[in-house]
Formats: sequence, C-alpha cells, structure tokens
Amino acid sequence: MIRREIALEVNGRSVHASVEPRQSLADYLRDGLDLTATHLGCEHGVCGACTLLLDGEPVRGCITLAVAAEGRRVDTLEAFDEDPLMNLLRQAFSEHHGLQCGFCTPGMLLMARDIILSDRVASDAELRVALSGNICRCTGYAGILRAISAAREAWQARPHAATGPA
Ligand code: FES
Ligand code: FES
Repeated sequence: MIRREIALEVNGRSVHASVEPRQSLADYLRDGLDLTATHLGCEHGVCGACTLLLDGEPVRGCITLAVAAEGRRVDTLEAFDEDPLMNLLRQAFSEHHGLQCGFCTPGMLLMARDIILSDRVASDAELRVALSGNICRCTGYAGILRAISAAREAWQARPHAATGPA
C-alpha cells in the first residue's frame, strides 16, 4: 500500500505521520491522534460536523486530505479549552439551548468563533447565511442562533474590545 510521510502542527504540537494518500484529515485526526471532537456526519462536505481550522481558516476535515495538511497548522476543538471566546460560546450554547444531541456542536462552535472573530456579520439574517454550511438535525437552529448572538454581544462588550481581537 502506498503511504506518504507528512509533518504538520496539530493543536500546537509537531506531528509526523505516515498516511494513505486518500485518507481524509478528519479520519487521520480521529483514528491516528484520538482527536475525536472532529465529528463525521455526511462525509462529503455538506453538514459541517467535521469543521476544523487549517492555518486558522475553517475547512471541512472530511474532504480535506491529510496529505494536504503537510507543513500546515491544524486546530481542532480540543485546542480551545482555554480560549476566552470559545468559553463564552460554550456557556451561551448551554444557556440558550444551542444543542441537544451535540453531534453538530464542535463544528458549530468552531464556525461560530470564526464568524465572531472575523466580524463579518452585522445582522441575524447575515448570521443565518454565515452559518448555513453547518447542519443541525435537532435544535431547529433558534437556540444556536441565540447562543451565537449572545456570545458575540458578550465578546464585543468585553472591557478590552476596543483594542481588537485577542
Ligand atoms: S462530515 Fe464533513 S461536511 Fe459532513
Ligand atoms: S444538536 Fe443534534 S445535530 Fe445539532
């Protein structure tokens, strides 16, 4: 079987791996590194459950090949235990019933964090569009949208907000 050697950074750690050329990044992270916060739903780029960050940008881990991460930085939800904005989002998802089964939640949290940090939505309608690539089968979305709006307000109201993102 053909394999490729890759070197990458995962959650701040240097990693070397031998992967099949067609192995997805999500499969490698889950099966090779036990980073199971990256969930797999549709496995063809539709549901957003596998969202992770590649060089700081959200991508779908199920349709990103592990070999494409060679020399790059990957961050999964496990990297954000101490992240202030992620903690706000977790609290807001809990308070506003932004999850039921939780299967979509890792992808939702990572996408929500990116939406807030990039400051690219100015209204609830724009937030719906920005989040439209992440599917939830349980909540009906209302709680998720309320949670993200609440976290965004809290983030923008923090004392040092005027000096820019953390
Ligand atoms: S599992 Fe990757 S988009 Fe659905
Ligand atoms: S909470 Fe179950 S899929 Fe979203």
